[in-house]
Amino acid sequence: MSKPDILLVRPIMPLIEDGLTQHFTLHKLAQVADESAFFREVGPRIRGVAAGGAGKADRALIEKLPALEIIANFGVGYDGIDVKAAAERGVIVTNTPDVLTDEVADLALGLLLATVRQIPQVDRYLRAGKWLEKPYPLTATLRERKVGILGLGRIGKAIAERCAAFGLDIAYHGRSRQADVPYRYYDNLLAMARDVDVLMVVAPGGAATHHIVNADVLTALGPDGILINVGRGSVVDEKALIAALRDRKILTAGLDVFEDEPRVPAELIAMDHVVLLPHVGSASVYTRNAMGRLVVDNLVSWFEGKGPKTPVAETPWPRK
Ligand code: NAP
Ligand code: 8YV
Repeated sequence: MSKPDILLVRPIMPLIEDGLTQHFTLHKLAQVADESAFFREVGPRIRGVAAGGAGKADRALIEKLPALEIIANFGVGYDGIDVKAAAERGVIVTNTPDVLTDEVADLALGLLLATVRQIPQVDRYLRAGKWLEKPYPLTATLRERKVGILGLGRIGKAIAERCAAFGLDIAYHGRSRQADVPYRYYDNLLAMARDVDVLMVVAPGGAATHHIVNADVLTALGPDGILINVGRGSVVDEKALIAALRDRKILTAGLDVFEDEPRVPAELIAMDHVVLLPHVGSASVYTRNAMGRLVVDNLVSWFEGKGPKTPVAETPWPRK
């Protein structure tokens, strides 16, 4: 029996390509010279898609693949997949939850500490030989801070546990109160921002969260406020953030994600009082391998007739 045809939208990692090649006939869109001819001739045979990172699966792509059954996303956030278009067609979407939770939470705490205690700036100071002249100025502190977590999901909870170990006060905002958590709930993001001095963004991207961290929220966070974003760049109005940082409406920001990755606004790069990371929340060999294996496992499981391993909520399995 012939192997199912799978389309890799953009290169992700060799482990995924090797795993897919073992089980499937793999087509790499990035290597296709004539996309129209490819979709005309091969498109009708494609039954699975591996996407993620720069490899988006939008409605236009989904519509070009009439036999499509499943899209496996490399990453827990699947804002790069048009999940509505997939669901309308009965196409299953899978992501990579849980296997990256602790890694991203670790990075979030590292970013928070780096930002409040200016760790990258202090490192630059030493390398520039300035310690020989005088000690680095005293910094802000994490002590006695209140953290508001926007998005108390898998990663948000792992961040909360770490913040609790650091002795911080913890609140959260999401669309609904969670019965089984000990943290203070706010049904209103602006109200939470008024009451905390660290806003930790770990919510998904997409239309529902687009720019919900706006100028008003940043102003409410206040002049001692710290914004950390390990969720998605689109959640924060980047122009409003730049203005708030420039006008010292907030103290500082630590950002792992941006609105137009990998492009980062020159205004942010020019600021010395922010910490900027190139979307590395899950980027250890250990965790990326686990994510890669889960992408392959979802596709293998599906085509062995065992169903998807980690379907997203919008395309549940068994189907409802
Ligand atoms: P998750 O378990 O699905 O948690 C998402 C949380 O966001 C939920 O608690 C949800 O709470 C909340 N939420 C969803 N929509 C919301 C809205 N409109 N307003 C307010 N809160 C909302 O996902 P996760 O595994 O923790 O991952 C969270 C996100 O982190 C991903 O979607 C991804 O964007 C990002 N991420 C980034 C990196 C990185 O490298 N920086 C790595 C992994 C993940 P309610 O349902 O109660 O609203
Ligand atoms: C990326 C992430 O997916 O899981 C997520 O949602 O943001 C990251 O783990 C990863 O950078 C691959 O694109």
